[in-house]
Amino acid sequence: MTFENLKVDIQDRIATIYIDRPKKLNALNRATIEEIHKAFQSLRSDEDVALVILTGSGEKAFVAGADISEFSEYSVEQGKDLAAKGQELVFDYIANFPKPVIAAVNGFALGGGLELAMSAHFRIASDNARLGLPETSLGVIPGYGGTQRLPQLVGKGRAMEMIMTAGMIDAETAKNYGLVNHVTTLEELLPLAEKLANKILNNSMQAISVAIEAINDNYKDGVNGFETEIKNFGKSFGTEDFKEGTQAFLNKQKPNFK
Ligand code: COA
Repeated sequence: MTFENLKVDIQDRIATIYIDRPKKLNALNRATIEEIHKAFQSLRSDEDVALVILTGSGEKAFVAGADISEFSEYSVEQGKDLAAKGQELVFDYIANFPKPVIAAVNGFALGGGLELAMSAHFRIASDNARLGLPETSLGVIPGYGGTQRLPQLVGKGRAMEMIMTAGMIDAETAKNYGLVNHVTTLEELLPLAEKLANKILNNSMQAISVAIEAINDNYKDGVNGFETEIKNFGKSFGTEDFKEGTQAFLNKQKPNFK
């Protein structure tokens, strides 16, 4: 897979996607949004890939936001379209991706950058990370799901404060808020992501995939997540992985999932 604004590295069932515009602090222009969609679409059907790590190129930024230079002249309709297309192609697509997605936040994660990290299934950060939704300082609001996912992750009051002040929080504060799960040094960030990835890869990816769906359904209007859980719990009983996992346990062996 070759892209203009991304690098994708696949090793041992783990695909690492680097948003790769370091001179622009990896800001998300339209081309990058389309490439992220294409990369995830291709990884979805790639049987050699079971998990995705999302990070930024360089030592300064994960992603410093949507590319401000592209949308500064947009009309009301164009603004609406930017948010709708972006949410569909990238942010909702990643949130509902059937394989685990870990964001490794390696510096600034601002605006669309924090929204990208929040669309991943969970986040870890390096100690130089700075996270925020500064859109109101530009006269706009978060448009890639930030007003919805930030309160889900940190609570309504903290999300209100972050969005109203347009300020940045550091990695430790983000950890205290529950926005990132772990904080480490920049050097240790990808090794930690890979360590967590390998722990996940010991388990049934089939079960993980339907667990992602059940967890996400808790946050969808008009969808009863408990019903999804019952359905997916039942479905699991019909899988090879279930036979493998339960038999291995009963035989005091390690499971060998497909
Ligand atoms: N959109 C477009 N370009 C961006 C960008 C963005 N969101 N964020 C950074 N860049 C560009 C800068 O314009 C600059 O380009 P140039 O060298 O051609 O002038 C380059 O990336 C480096 O950024 P710079 O501002 O010089 O780095 P800094 O270390 O002084 O500041 C930030 C870092 C992150 C504080 C600052 O870049 C910033 O505030 N960016 C915008 C953040 C934002 O509001 N994001 C939400 C967008 S909705």
